[in-house]
Amino acid sequence: MYSTRIAGIGHYVPERVVSNKDLEKLMETSDEWIQERTGIKERRWIDPSTDDMPSTMGTKAARIAIKNAGLQPEDIDFIIFATLSPDFYFPGPGVQVQDQLGIGEIGALDVRNQCSGFVYGLSVADQFIKTGMYKNILLIGSEYHSGGLEKTTRGRGVTVIFGDGAGAVVLSRSEEKGKGILSTHLHSEGKHAKELALIGPATNRWVDTIMKESDPEDTSYYPYMNGNFVFKHAVTRFQEVIFEALEKNNVGKEQIDMLIPHQANLRISQFVQKKLELSDDQVYNNIMRYGNTTAASIPIAMSEAHMEGKIKPGDLVCLAAFGSGFTWASALIRW
Ligand code: ACO
Repeated sequence: MYSTRIAGIGHYVPERVVSNKDLEKLMETSDEWIQERTGIKERRWIDPSTDDMPSTMGTKAARIAIKNAGLQPEDIDFIIFATLSPDFYFPGPGVQVQDQLGIGEIGALDVRNQCSGFVYGLSVADQFIKTGMYKNILLIGSEYHSGGLEKTTRGRGVTVIFGDGAGAVVLSRSEEKGKGILSTHLHSEGKHAKELALIGPATNRWVDTIMKESDPEDTSYYPYMNGNFVFKHAVTRFQEVIFEALEKNNVGKEQIDMLIPHQANLRISQFVQKKLELSDDQVYNNIMRYGNTTAASIPIAMSEAHMEGKIKPGDLVCLAAFGSGFTWASALIRW
């Protein structure tokens, strides 16, 4: 069996900065409320006049990751793309990245696990690499939330949280034992699917049905979130899945050099940090600048932490995510 190492990381966020003050102009909210409840100061939203889309942002992040891995696009054997906001209903953006990178007819897989999508994708890539099927896999998390959010007071509970952006990693085969991805842990509880969901359009609520109804009160086009309910589950599941990874690898929580939680809400990260008794240096948060970018949040945070020298060779890095599904997941990595 081979090991899987992270050979290169990159991220890309749209240039347009949307501050909490900017949102005050669109809905009844306040900078104070948003910062106090979520920790978010600003987020990036795509400027629709640019070519930024989930696939193109993903490709931009991917080019950086591939370069940082010391590889060329044609060295990539397989693409995995995690998003809840694909360019098209189908096909998923994995194939668009294959085209945009101008590489051979390699496989492209799309992952639909929302905030846990990046860790789910990491787990899939790890299995392919460990077994020798592929040598270099490109894994992307990319989201374009702003185009689908309800930018009114009715939508404020969801809209103020989400931002756009992309992160990517190249995962490569390694023969070094005890290094790279040590384990991944994946979970779901579908009975809560509707607590954080976008119901339509989909095959159980197809566009012509929605058009026929055309009710101005119809909010099914917009994401719905039962915020309090999600929050309570998130704080529990984050801890559970982190401890599961630590136990599997026989390491204590104090041995974590860097925890990179999915950036759902700063209060959730702080709660988990406190429970794990980790110092500020052991947890990386950037939700203040980007909001919640769902599948992109972990790779963007990992890319920034790495650029800032906060992840060093030999470090024990833990990734953890929770989100719509509900799904939750963790990964333990010896850098
Ligand atoms: N500005 C001002 N007031 C607001 C806003 C806003 N943007 N949003 C809601 N409010 C009001 C509500 O209407 C409510 O008013 P009321 O008491 O008069 O009814 C009050 O503020 C409190 O609302 P709550 O929803 O109870 O606020 P809460 O403290 O729970 O914070 C939040 C809401 C930030 C959404 C929080 O619940 C949260 O972070 N939940 C978890 C999010 C998460 O982890 N999601 C998973 C990942 S995302 C994914 O998978 C796609």
